[in-house]
Amino acid sequence: NQSTGNTTATNVTPVVEQVISKDVTILFGSQTGNAQGLAEQAGKMLDSKGFNCTVLSMSDFKPKNLKKVENLLILVSTHGEGDPPDNALTFHEFLHGKRAPKVDSLRYSVLSLGDSSYEFFCQTGKEFDQRLEELGGTRLYPRVDCDLDFDEPAAEWIEGVLNGLNEGVAQSTEVLAEMPTASSGESEYSRTNPFQAEVLENLNLNGRGSNKETRHLELLLEGSGLTYEPGDALGIYPENDPELVQLLLKELNWDSEEIVTVNKQGDVLSLEEALTKHFEITVLTKPLLEQALKLSNHDALRELLSAGKEAELKEYINGRDLLDLVRDFGPWGVSAQEFIAILRKMPGRLYSIASSYAANEEEVHLTIGTVRYESHGRKRKGVCSTLCAERLESGDTIPIYIQKNPNFKLPEHPDTPIIMVGPGTGIAPFRAFMQEREETEAEGKSWLFFGDQHFMTDFLYQTEWQQWLKDGVLTKMDVAFSRDSDEKVYVQHRMREQSKELYTWIQEGAVIYICGDEKHMAHDVHETLITIIEQEGQMNREQAEQYLSEMQQQKRYQRDVY
Ligand code: 2AM
Repeated sequence: NQSTGNTTATNVTPVVEQVISKDVTILFGSQTGNAQGLAEQAGKMLDSKGFNCTVLSMSDFKPKNLKKVENLLILVSTHGEGDPPDNALTFHEFLHGKRAPKVDSLRYSVLSLGDSSYEFFCQTGKEFDQRLEELGGTRLYPRVDCDLDFDEPAAEWIEGVLNGLNEGVAQSTEVLAEMPTASSGESEYSRTNPFQAEVLENLNLNGRGSNKETRHLELLLEGSGLTYEPGDALGIYPENDPELVQLLLKELNWDSEEIVTVNKQGDVLSLEEALTKHFEITVLTKPLLEQALKLSNHDALRELLSAGKEAELKEYINGRDLLDLVRDFGPWGVSAQEFIAILRKMPGRLYSIASSYAANEEEVHLTIGTVRYESHGRKRKGVCSTLCAERLESGDTIPIYIQKNPNFKLPEHPDTPIIMVGPGTGIAPFRAFMQEREETEAEGKSWLFFGDQHFMTDFLYQTEWQQWLKDGVLTKMDVAFSRDSDEKVYVQHRMREQSKELYTWIQEGAVIYICGDEKHMAHDVHETLITIIEQEGQMNREQAEQYLSEMQQQKRYQRDVY
């Protein structure tokens, strides 16, 4: 086996002495699993080319070993306002701190994943890249920043890294071809080759009079070979709202039947189909506006993109879509083909799976909150959620894929206690957890914190939870209905009320899971956990933070937030 790098008597001794190390450390920081998937693919690819790769989550890497690493690849995503994924936090902090070592003999390269509709696009990758340079490392290949459609740039990066590792020795261009086929599972279906799943059920979980509409969707996986574990997510490729597509076609005076080429591979669709299925038309990004400026040369658009106007740009992009752009900065003296070439490919939408495969063979269930709001004088709709709410019926099919999430998993041991905090649609993976624990007759204690606006209309899967509580599958349940009383009550208030017992569970080894809104809920719950640990564990703030960070490191504090 050439890939082990071991020299035995039977190996042919290289004529030229090997000066470049064949050992490559590949570290990933991944929230939804994309960076991890790519890291594993890169590892396999490089191993097959004679390298000896170690692929690790950043949280499993001992920072003091950094000094010994000769070749380092970093694959990392960015979240929210430029934040690292949870399993990158500790290493990121270490590297940026005073104890970070000099790494003069290190060769490295960074692949960053992100979403260009966010202001701090690929920020975490940029920080790792810059910091490693400051510490004395040498890039073996320049950093590549990927937008949502990352397959091609990621394959190009691995190709470049391979050449860089070989110090410019020419390599064949097989990598691009090999990458998409390096799929992980047993199924032939994947993000790049989605499965058409049939809709079995599509119900509104909220009662009459609720402010909310939450869809419970059941899909059939039969014939796909797809399976999943509790904590994994399902990706859906939605179709755009036909009304919005028609408005765009009309505004631009385009012929819906015109045939256009939609990608580098030369696939063609009618303009109407392309705008409905292939392209994103509801999100504006800075790169899109920059491309648009080349087509219209509109003064106001140029002004918006000029230096020092970042705040105005952010304000403009927020809550507007392609129709606004087309209306605000025309006329567009270009062909439909030229125009669509600047659009992003429609990304899949990820939803935490709400069912256990063991309990529902060949099925997958989702809990989808319908997004509707008004901004800049027009009603706006979440693309996928309103497709599910308004235009998807039993018997219809929809393109889907499984997105493994290794960072949100039931404990290995069925006796380990779990604490689940999941207000709103954050409840989804916990329904999967309970189904799984019931099906496998796991004995561990479990405690649910759920919250929503009103008890009468918004207690998602109420009868199921009450049954689990009765049967002892669920040990404890605390609910917070925020708009049933004068004062707001949230899940974290219920947690505070139970500080003592919560801390006891933590000391007994419980794993804490949080799912749902990142910006407000998950942040406030995190703060509450620190306060509880501080108070009940008689620690100061710093010690409590450290305690929680260690729990995170040991995978005893896991988050699936969005
Ligand atoms: P609200 O809508 O009344 O503000 C699910 O959406 C539940 O989460 C709702 O009851 C919602 O309350 C609540 N919620 C809103 N902000 C929250 C926060 N920062 N922390 C916890 N729950 C929150």
